[in-house]
Amino acid sequence: MSAAGNTTRVLVTGATGGIGRATCVELIRQAKSEGKAVSIAAVASRSGAALEALTAELNSLGARAIGLHANLADAASCVQLIDDATAFCGGLDALVSNAGITRPAPLADQTVEDWDTVFSVNTRATWLLARAARKALAESRGAIVAVASMSGMYPHPGYGAYSASKAALLMLCRQLAQEWAADGIRVNTVSPGMIRTPLTERVYQNEEVAARREAMVPLGRIGRPEDIARAVAYLLGDHAAYVTGENLRVDGGLCDRFLGTIPGVARA
Ligand SMILES: NC(=O)c1ccc[n+]([C@@H]2O[C@H](COP(=O)([O-])OP(=O)(O)OC[C@H]3O[C@@H](n4cnc5c(N)ncnc54)[C@H](OP(=O)(O)O)[C@@H]3O)[C@@H](O)[C@H]2O)c1
Repeated sequence: MSAAGNTTRVLVTGATGGIGRATCVELIRQAKSEGKAVSIAAVASRSGAALEALTAELNSLGARAIGLHANLADAASCVQLIDDATAFCGGLDALVSNAGITRPAPLADQTVEDWDTVFSVNTRATWLLARAARKALAESRGAIVAVASMSGMYPHPGYGAYSASKAALLMLCRQLAQEWAADGIRVNTVSPGMIRTPLTERVYQNEEVAARREAMVPLGRIGRPEDIARAVAYLLGDHAAYVTGENLRVDGGLCDRFLGTIPGVARA
């Protein structure tokens, strides 16, 4: 990630969630370790205590942070967010399109309204944010990372439009990477496996389910928001200067486990 002078300027959506907050904190940690300052526009859907607490935390960690709120399902709001973020930060080096939602349902029962909402937040918002940020990112030769999901690579029965929306997000980012490489803008995705965050916390409250899930992961544990945050920071950073159009799966080996579960095959 390039930086204006000595300041890294970032917009992170879904910032009050588990992965978004961890990403903001990791980007501050990384910038500090490189002797840089950070300006962060932290975006949530709502104003209120959670966004205020996050903004205060990021400022206390040494960033210059602003909390912005908007419904990413609304197209005009995506453009406004970029305007507000670039005005606050004085430009933009990185866009982290992390916000995502689920509307679980068998596809036979999913409502059209829920389908459209899931695609608007999980897929279309990344395109609209990226498009609005293109000029600023071209000026800084900046980078975009979108947070997709293992569900974008494997069908997720019962999850309604979620898998399709994340699969579309993966291809959207690969296409953006091709179209904007000449502008010096890199575009990549991170696909989390099972991560314990407010989105999934209810499931992990059930200790038996949590233990069964953990047992499925080759690396032996459920992922932490910090695991994803470090992957995002890597893809935004200079160590990934020659990486674009890539998807980094961060799942503890979960998705590749399948063939090893087939009965009757010798185990290593
Ligand atoms: N957790 C997992 O196991 C997992 C696995 C695979 C992929 N992912 C992906 O990782 C990303 C982050 O997940 P997470 O677990 O950290 O989620 P989370 O804790 O539920 O946080 C979601 C964030 O998105 C924001 N948001 C939701 N709807 C929005 C909207 N319409 N407009 C603007 N902001 C909105 C929320 O803001 P408010 O709180 O203000 O509504 C919140 O900041 C998502 O894209 C998710 O699909 C997560």
